[in-house]
Amino acid sequence: MDNYAVIGNPVKHSKSPLIHTEFAKQTEQAMVYTAIEAPLDGFTETLKEFEAAGGKGVNVTLPFKNEAFALANEHSDLAKQAQSANTLAFRNNNIIYADNTDGPGLIQDLTHNHHYSLRQKHVLVIGAGGATKGILGPLLAQAPAHLLLANRTPEKAIALAKQFEMYGDIDGVGLTDIEKKPFDLIINATSASVSGKTPPLPEDIIGKNSWCYDLFYADKPTSFLVWAKRLGAENYLDGLGMLVEQAAGSFYLWHGIYPETKSVIEMLRNG
Ligand code: ATR
Repeated sequence: MDNYAVIGNPVKHSKSPLIHTEFAKQTEQAMVYTAIEAPLDGFTETLKEFEAAGGKGVNVTLPFKNEAFALANEHSDLAKQAQSANTLAFRNNNIIYADNTDGPGLIQDLTHNHHYSLRQKHVLVIGAGGATKGILGPLLAQAPAHLLLANRTPEKAIALAKQFEMYGDIDGVGLTDIEKKPFDLIINATSASVSGKTPPLPEDIIGKNSWCYDLFYADKPTSFLVWAKRLGAENYLDGLGMLVEQAAGSFYLWHGIYPETKSVIEMLRNG
């Protein structure tokens, strides 16, 4: 039996064990997938112990994605672009391969599950932390007309936009400098939703046709989505689809089979 796990802190409420167990059932893979909480200063030790006990691969969640990238000795292009990893695979000859399936998970949810094309769209991404780093490359690869990156601390948005300017048309600003016009797609990549807050945003950015996406997912609509809906947005999505799709990307990396995701998203949505 092959062993896989998600490592994070906290990790108790992670849905990853449930998602991967469903995928394994569906594709008839014999594997066990658990959640492991690593001490904040003990990611490397936890990972090495898991590998020594026969682990084949892990998902990595907050706050260890940068550390996971640094620790790996082979990296996918997307992991390199993001400088962070959500998936590690232990391979022969002491190879730890790092990938980042967060961005592809978001794109798959938007374009495949919701039939939304990013081509020539005006996109606003709010937040310039770890979550944003994972999605910028894949978003720009979809050829939007422009991507505006806005952050509470403007310097972080400006620096990150500079880092990604070779991949597309992107600018970084502070939250108060966001253009006061409706955007086609607004992605909340801040951690504000975790504490039930909404970043202070100008109301003019939301129009009837704006699509609003919160990378965060909870049992009830996030405060950002409630805010967007109140302002008239008719299309709003939380991060559940992305969560399942990024898991499918990891599953594919490990097992070479792409699982069916729709039924798993529905299962989680219906509790
Ligand atoms: P993560 O890895 O989850 O993205 P992070 O790296 O700590 O976490 O980044 C959190 C992001 O959410 C940052 O962009 C942060 O803004 P700052 O860079 O100014 O700190 C943003 N954020 C968190 N709480 C926020 C709030 N209440 N309003 C606006 N932005 C917030």
